[in-house]
Amino acid sequence: MILILDFGSQTTQLIGRRIRDLGVYAEIIPGDGPLPDLAGAEGLVLSGSPESVYAPEGPVPDPKIYRAGLPLLGVCYGLQRMTADLGGQVEALPKQEYGGVTVAVDLPPGDSFFSGFDQAVSLEEIKSQIIPQNSKTVSITAWMSHGDTLTRLAPGFREYGRSETGFPAVVAHESKPWYGLQFHPEAAHCERGREILAGFVFGVCRCKTEWTMERYIETAGAGIAEKVGKHPVVLLISGGVDSAVTAALLLKTLPAEQVHLMYMDTGLMRKDETQRVESNLKRLGRGLHIIHCEEAFLNALKGVTDPERKRKIIGDLFVEIQEREVRNLNLPEEYFLAQGTLYTDLIESGKGVGNKARVIKSHHNVGSPLIEAKRRAGRLIEPLDRLYKDEARRLGTLLGLDEAVVRRHPFPGPGLAVRIIGEATREACEILREADALYLRELRRRGLYDDIWQAFAVLLPVRTVGLAGDARRYGRVLALRAITSADGMTAEVYPFPMKDLLEIATLITNARPEIGRVVYDISSKPPATIEWE
Ligand code: XMP
Repeated sequence: MILILDFGSQTTQLIGRRIRDLGVYAEIIPGDGPLPDLAGAEGLVLSGSPESVYAPEGPVPDPKIYRAGLPLLGVCYGLQRMTADLGGQVEALPKQEYGGVTVAVDLPPGDSFFSGFDQAVSLEEIKSQIIPQNSKTVSITAWMSHGDTLTRLAPGFREYGRSETGFPAVVAHESKPWYGLQFHPEAAHCERGREILAGFVFGVCRCKTEWTMERYIETAGAGIAEKVGKHPVVLLISGGVDSAVTAALLLKTLPAEQVHLMYMDTGLMRKDETQRVESNLKRLGRGLHIIHCEEAFLNALKGVTDPERKRKIIGDLFVEIQEREVRNLNLPEEYFLAQGTLYTDLIESGKGVGNKARVIKSHHNVGSPLIEAKRRAGRLIEPLDRLYKDEARRLGTLLGLDEAVVRRHPFPGPGLAVRIIGEATREACEILREADALYLRELRRRGLYDDIWQAFAVLLPVRTVGLAGDARRYGRVLALRAITSADGMTAEVYPFPMKDLLEIATLITNARPEIGRVVYDISSKPPATIEWE
């Protein structure tokens, strides 16, 4: 196992994910909290952070990490932290450095860490712990995101790589297995990033590839069974992939009569969602409590336009109705609540394991008081909270879920309400639901759906001028979004084939006279988020 000390960077989770993709279990712990027993750890990674080492808020790890005799890899802030802690110096850059930067690295012979940088060495060779025989100079395009730099290395450290902008980018200790990178090897755009992490994990820490989803089913299943005992478990099904996979995992682990699946038709769902959920779950061999509560949601959202307020109202109402419906089930008070929360949901709500992860948006499934109360009472289970979306999908397939369910694009908990900018009225929901269904139907029909990570339509509160015959008409604006991503943490705009885009826009305006204009959202994440609200 590799332990990752989280100092609050948005990409900490990605480090864990990359290491797990290499087939090695990685766990993330708060970087400034108490250290767990290090007996099972083969190496420690020190993550990045939005803070500076010289700022009072800069998180500081337990100094025991430097006495544990374990390999260390400092990434960005992690490297700066090691440097500051061990007697070097870190200072602010005149200007923050962000994006692809060329780094030249002198590879010394005899140190397997550096095989990751060498384009001539394959990942398989790195996994088999190849030791480089000759020195060599290579150059890679690394991914930078930092406002500070090392101005003096800590004693015992040596610089092996420098950025084209003139800053130390790769350092290593001369006698201990300690390494530091100023850039982010976990970023998808970092050249040789995967291999560089592999150089540390296999070459330095000597890990073996033993982490698989089959194993996850065993360990997560055992964890669930132990935690809930004979108590009933209630799971709210959203229609998305995550809750479906959670349901499958619960049903694989617990007797069916212990598991209660509940689905709320909030009126904010996609077209035909209720029927689809019902038929999918029947296949899992389990009935479903369906609650029709469209009126309640639309009433609560009347006149509300602020995105965070919408999310809060929906989240609270979810919980309130769920409470009421659970009472109607006559279950004992100690029932457990299960949720399909993923790793990314936690980090993006500032509830990641690090104390410093920042709040971007309150995802309803981690923000509500009742869920927090359940969490405090130890009666919340979130068996996917260590998984990324694509891992959850692989798990779903292994658990026998239908491929169409597993491959479905993600859908946010607050539903169409966060895709209707302004007030989510019944009429707006209706327009958006129809337009979105048309859009997704066309993507499937044209064979584009599986190339896209997430696609949806957004209804804007803007009216623009159009023509209906000879008359002027003020139609609404519909935005189409389609992105590619590995896990929703970052996203690229899907390079839509123009012909398809134009045809789909025409289909939509022909089918829905209320929509006068269609636009395509060309913003990546960051700086935009995937959803509009
Ligand atoms: P953003 O908009 O934050 O979205 O870039 C990242 C991914 O998360 C989904 N999302 C949510 N999922 N509850 C959820 O279960 C929510 O409140 C929520 N908000 C956003 C979003 O659709 C995208 O896949």
